[in-house]
Amino acid sequence: MRTRPLKVALLGCGVVGSEVARIMTTHADDLTARIGAPVELAGVAVRRPSKVREGIDPALVTTDATALVKRGDIDVVVEVIGGIEPARALITTAFEHGASVVSANKALIAQDGAALHAAAEQHGRDLYYEAAVAGAIPLIRPLRESLAGDKVNRVLGIVNGTTNFILDKMDSTGAGYQEALDEATALGYAEADPTADVEGFDAAAKAAILAGIAFHTRVRLDDVYREGMTEVTAADFASAKRMGCTIKLLAICERAAHGGSVTARVHPAMIPLSHPLASVREAYNAVFVEAEAAGQLMFYGPGAGGAPTASAVLGDLVAVCRNKLGEATGPGDSAYTQLPVSPMGEVVTRYHISLDVADKPGVLAQVATVFAEHGVSIDTVRQTGKDGEASLVVVTHRAPDAALSGTVEALRRLDTVRGVASIMRVEGE
Ligand code: NDP
Ligand code: HSE
Repeated sequence: MRTRPLKVALLGCGVVGSEVARIMTTHADDLTARIGAPVELAGVAVRRPSKVREGIDPALVTTDATALVKRGDIDVVVEVIGGIEPARALITTAFEHGASVVSANKALIAQDGAALHAAAEQHGRDLYYEAAVAGAIPLIRPLRESLAGDKVNRVLGIVNGTTNFILDKMDSTGAGYQEALDEATALGYAEADPTADVEGFDAAAKAAILAGIAFHTRVRLDDVYREGMTEVTAADFASAKRMGCTIKLLAICERAAHGGSVTARVHPAMIPLSHPLASVREAYNAVFVEAEAAGQLMFYGPGAGGAPTASAVLGDLVAVCRNKLGEATGPGDSAYTQLPVSPMGEVVTRYHISLDVADKPGVLAQVATVFAEHGVSIDTVRQTGKDGEASLVVVTHRAPDAALSGTVEALRRLDTVRGVASIMRVEGE
């Protein structure tokens, strides 16, 4: 057992960072035994130095994060500030000054993961980020290590706790969107700017990271098709219920059947109540991974929150510290190929479309003709109406997204179609 401690610089001491510091202190003996050396909190960089931080020695607190990572005696930097800058510059500086890095920053890894991995490799350091995707759930390591000998074809799941919390509350208690978002924010689930959650940017960043690791290819944030959940209404939930479904914000990454391209997308979708993802409540996440030899694997657990996320950070910290002691590094960038990322128009799935139409003879036939002209086959139609107006709900068979978009455009041009109330994909059947 080495007695000289490994020194850790904590960048950020908010929802996640404060829990990292707490666990490092309360579990110090166990961490020492597991690593083979003590770990010492050597400095804590924050924005507001005067804020009272329970359990943190005020002498360790600094606002000069750059000076902290440049000290030269830091073994591991834990970056839990979030955002692109100064996090990116601090991580790069940390590598240059001898430290490996553990980060929970999905926005940064999705945008600059390749460059950061290259910088880590150049300086012989580790870059670990288990906490960046799906909170406490071990997912990056299983994909990077346990499934390294298999061929992953699909990753599908709920990867944002805040939006799952909101959708669950809207569905199960009839809560309003803002009320549920406020509660998720108070519980520490939401990003500093919750737009990242509700507009799907956070889930898209996670999808880019997952797709890149799962398919060993480069998937940029811009490659991920993204729709948020701000337009999901109580009427959509009622409609979903009539179909025996609920609504979840899903991230879906797929390798094409021919294997030569991939797709990655984030959008709300109806899923049958019988599907395991339908019973994922509150801020929990769940991810299915389909691999050629392993078959279907399901990962489930808390997807957000201080302590669950700190668990993933601490797991990485132990791994990185062990590597340091062994003078080794863990797995680096897993992308060794550049598969094209197909546009959303080529994705094939089912659709649930709600239309407000005139209730008069021939309208149903007109609508059906538009679907037929675009090669979109109708599975079911339900019409309810009164006083000359009707609501038409059409559920299609599987069709390419481009064909569905063409259908909707043409429907909007019909005089008898007053409006397209909602379009939602149907998944998981
Ligand atoms: P918080 O906003 O709660 O904490 C951010 C921390 O960073 C604060 O301590 C803040 O200081 C500090 N900080 C901000 N800017 C600077 C700066 N320029 N220099 C030094 N310190 C700075 O965020 P979270 O803890 O929620 O999230 C941190 C990271 O973890 C993000 O990347 C997030 O996406 C990720 N994450 C969060 C999860 C969650 O459930 N919250 C789950 C998974 C990942 P001060 O305290 O003085 O304001
Ligand atoms: N805001 C994120 C979420 C935190 O709600 O999932 C966890 O990554």
